Formats: sequence, C-alpha cells, structure tokens
Amino acid sequence: MTKKIVVLGSLNVDSIMKMPRMPLVGETMALTNVTTAPGGKGANQAVAAARQGADVSFIGAIGNDANGQFMRATLVNNGVNVDQLKTNGDVPTGSAFIMLQDDGANTILIHGGANQALTTADLDRDLIIDADLIIAQFEVPYAVILAAFELAHNHHVQTVLNPAPAVYELTPELMAVTDIILPNETEAQLLTGIEVVNDEGVLNRVTDALQAKGAKRSIITLGAAGSFVADGQRRWWAQPEKVVAQDTTAAGDTFIGTLASVIASDFNNLDDAVKRASIASAIAVTRPGAIPSIPTFDEVEAYS
Ligand code: RIB
Ligand code: NA
Repeated sequence: MTKKIVVLGSLNVDSIMKMPRMPLVGETMALTNVTTAPGGKGANQAVAAARQGADVSFIGAIGNDANGQFMRATLVNNGVNVDQLKTNGDVPTGSAFIMLQDDGANTILIHGGANQALTTADLDRDLIIDADLIIAQFEVPYAVILAAFELAHNHHVQTVLNPAPAVYELTPELMAVTDIILPNETEAQLLTGIEVVNDEGVLNRVTDALQAKGAKRSIITLGAAGSFVADGQRRWWAQPEKVVAQDTTAAGDTFIGTLASVIASDFNNLDDAVKRASIASAIAVTRPGAIPSIPTFDEVEAYS
C-alpha cells in the first residue's frame, strides 16, 4: 500500500538571480540572468516525495495573490493533496531571493509571509494521525511544528525534522518527538556550535552533539561530500554521486523528500533510503530551479 506522507512547511516563489560572485556591501553589480521558479523548502520536499510515488498531503499557507495560485497549482500538478493548504488574505505568499553564483553555490534570502502566519489552528488532526510519516522544516513557526510532531508522535507517525534554516533551538521537547533530524553542514554548525568540516572525527563529534540534544537518528548532508548518517546503532559516511553542479537550490530538499518516500514504508532501511536520496539530489543539482529540478522515480531508476 502506498504510504502517506504529510509535509508541514513553506511555499515560496523563488526569484533566482544569477551572478558571477556575491556582491559586496555598497556595490552595484550586474546579474547574468533572472528567472522565477516555484520553491520553498516545504513545497520542494513535498514534490520530491510525490515524484517518487508517495501519497503526499501538504499543510501550509499561501496569500490571496497570484504567487499563491502559482504555488497551489504547482502542488496540484505534482499530485500533492492541497485540501489543507490555507489561503491567508492578510499576508503575501512567501518569497525567496536566491543569489546563485556561476559555480552553482547559492545564498538565499526569504520573506516568510503566509508561511510565518501559520498557526496551530491550521493543523488538521485527522490528516496527521492518519499519516505514516510527517516532515517539517524551520520555515514555519516553531509552535506549529512542535504541536504537529507531538500529535504525530503520540499516534506512532514517524517524524522527520529538517532544521532549515537553523532559526530555532533544538529544544528537548521537540527532540523528544523527532525520529530523525537532517541538517546540512551550515545548520549542523549553527545548532551545535561545532565548526563542520569534512572529517570523520569532526562529523562524529557533531553527531554526538546532536545526540546530546536528544537526536535519535541524524543525517548531516554535506553537499558534494555526501552525507554522514547515524541510524542509532551504526554511523557511516555515505558517498555522493559525482556530478557537475549547475544549481544546488533544493538539493537538500530533494534528498529529504526522496529519503522520506523510502523510509515511510521501511523506517529501518536508512541505507537504501540514503542511496536513493543521494542519486535524486545529484540529479537535482544538474538542473536549474528548485521544483523544476526535482527528478521523477524513473529518472532516479535510470541513473547509474
Ligand atoms: O531549500 C531551497 C529553498 O529554500 C528555496 O526553494 C527557497 O524558497 C527557500 O525556501
Ligand atoms: Na537545482
């Protein structure tokens, strides 16, 4: 039976500004290109899981504007259930301004809008307790994430936390109801205070620090260096697929959504889930834009 995933999270319209390098303060600099694409960490992860064949429902909010309609249509076109996508007429749909360097690296500025106006009243109890797995990121208010995860945890729904961006603490309450946490290297550094470098000793120390905060399982995504996995018993450094990066936007989101599509049916199989997630995110970095770059099930299958 197809597993049910709920994504509680953000939707943003991304303005992608291509540039040779980051601007300096006070500088006027020409862009090499400007494009628009659907994104937002929540929407990206929902589409990544849906394109892998999962049954995905979204809990989130858009504004009563054209960007909101664009994001709603994007989820619908990808087969994501939007019955619990709220429209909030008081605030604009979320937006992101992505400074994308020619080498594929990015810096992202976000305006939360409707994402930040989400409240616990927007949580649909039945949808959450009926799911196999719920995913959340840190682009919606902390109180909403905590309430959703507590409800999920009490009903044996697996909880997947992507603490991105790292704007909230990993509180004991939240960690108690989180089954697996997936920060990237930057977030892991902010959350643990340890400078993250691609060294096994350091990655073990960062993992220890996450566990000291209450993490049961963790995966630290390391971009082109792969990911460092701790499944409770075992730790290993999963090797990346080697690709030439064009746009790394949504690479982490593709990893998480794809991983969720696998562990929703077999929570103990992190090995296969990480392999599949690594392939999917490698494909995503070779293509521009967030949601447009996310591969389908067949594309991941065909890759080898
Ligand atoms: O993780 C990438 C995403 O972060 C972008 O799509 C942008 O909208 C921000 O939410
Ligand atoms: Na991409």
